[in-house]
Amino acid sequence: MTFWTRRKALDAVLRVEESRRLKPTLSWPHLIALGIGAIIGTGIYTLTGIGAERAGPAVILAFAACGVLCVFAALTYAEMATMIPAAGSAYTYAYAVLGEGLAWIVGWSLILEYSVTCSAVAVGWSGYMVGLLKSAGIVLPAALLAGPHGGGIVNLPAVLIVLAVTALLIRGAKDSAVVNIVLVAIKILALAVFVFLTITVLKPENFQPFMPYGFASETVNGHTRGVMAAAAIVFFAFFGFDAVSTSAEEVKNPKRDLTIGIVGSMVVSTLIYMLVATCAVGAWAYSEFARSGEPLAFILRSLNHPWAAVAIAAAAVIALPSVILVMMFGQTRVFFVMSRDGLLPHGLSKLHPRRGTPVALTLMVGAFVAVVAGLFRLDEIAELSNAGTLLAFICVAVCVMVLRVTKPDLPRLFRCPAVWVVGPLAVVGCLYFMISLPPATLGRFLVWNVVGIVVYLLYGRRKSFLNTPSTAS
Ligand code: ALA
Repeated sequence: MTFWTRRKALDAVLRVEESRRLKPTLSWPHLIALGIGAIIGTGIYTLTGIGAERAGPAVILAFAACGVLCVFAALTYAEMATMIPAAGSAYTYAYAVLGEGLAWIVGWSLILEYSVTCSAVAVGWSGYMVGLLKSAGIVLPAALLAGPHGGGIVNLPAVLIVLAVTALLIRGAKDSAVVNIVLVAIKILALAVFVFLTITVLKPENFQPFMPYGFASETVNGHTRGVMAAAAIVFFAFFGFDAVSTSAEEVKNPKRDLTIGIVGSMVVSTLIYMLVATCAVGAWAYSEFARSGEPLAFILRSLNHPWAAVAIAAAAVIALPSVILVMMFGQTRVFFVMSRDGLLPHGLSKLHPRRGTPVALTLMVGAFVAVVAGLFRLDEIAELSNAGTLLAFICVAVCVMVLRVTKPDLPRLFRCPAVWVVGPLAVVGCLYFMISLPPATLGRFLVWNVVGIVVYLLYGRRKSFLNTPSTAS
């Protein structure tokens, strides 16, 4: 059963052909910016509305629950990322620890975590862009603003932003990271303005009843409700810190930089979310902004701050692409490593001779992301990407615990504190979040994985370099 037993030797993970090695150009300030760049985005800007519809004002609790789970997950990630500072994130860890089959499943899930996330953020971006254009008196035909599931033909703005980001990414990681720092500043400033304008007008009655649908996720008449139902979707707002670990190979001082980058960016984002969510539900009745494609701008407009609404929409429009950029960067790196391992066609890991980036791969990912963004609805794709991310988190936590037993003496610069509490809590928490997703999403996730396993059996298992004795490590 090669599925379980075929593993990459840990030292082989770090030993790759020189011509296919990515250049180390990043350090921790880049990583914090990269992390926050990936973390803060459509989740807080748009899914706050959908979360509030599912949990009422208790969406604040949903954000807190996600924050706690993600702290656990971030701690396990930090241990793995500093121990195996090689590109590929959960896929690479799983390959070294759990075997090729599970590594493939995780890599396949990372497509949801990275690519489908990019699509979801693009759809969120489109909501703010359309609002912004509308306030300038430009109304686009409805058929071009949503995919077939949302009642239109194609979400054209979402497709266009994906293509623009793809072009930027092809220019190279370092340039992209510098642009990213500016964009991160803009989106945080916009959230600060939102908090500043709303925190003085919070109404106690808007917090009542606080938890109208209870805590656990329940699906009644096709609607999934409850704090955990909200948590399972706003969880989307939190991930991205692991995108930092996928860039490990390009980091100058992986041990220090990754630890600070992963944990730091996540904690800052959690605090910001709880504040923004409290201000949103406290300042305006959630039932009114829940369905808006641009809830934060909606609230500001309703509070008679039309210019601030325009400003926050503009900030979202300018800055949300940074999330797409970071997640797409993560996806290309995961595919890059999978191709280097032979599980995907080897030609994909060729670097452009002058730019030093995997251009063909980036174009392929960009095309996939654009199609998904153009055709599907935000909540559906955000939930699917959450399912993939939860699986990846579970895998990382398991890897950390397995390695503590099988390789206790491996040097670990960052040790996850209380690993036998944090690790199991991360696993159980992720499972709980997963079963809190709507049943339809879980069904789609199952289909996705069945397709993945078929692809592995037909291609990856035969072509894997670990299947060729001369290249196996
Ligand atoms: N956490 C990222 C966002 O909310 C994916 O957009």
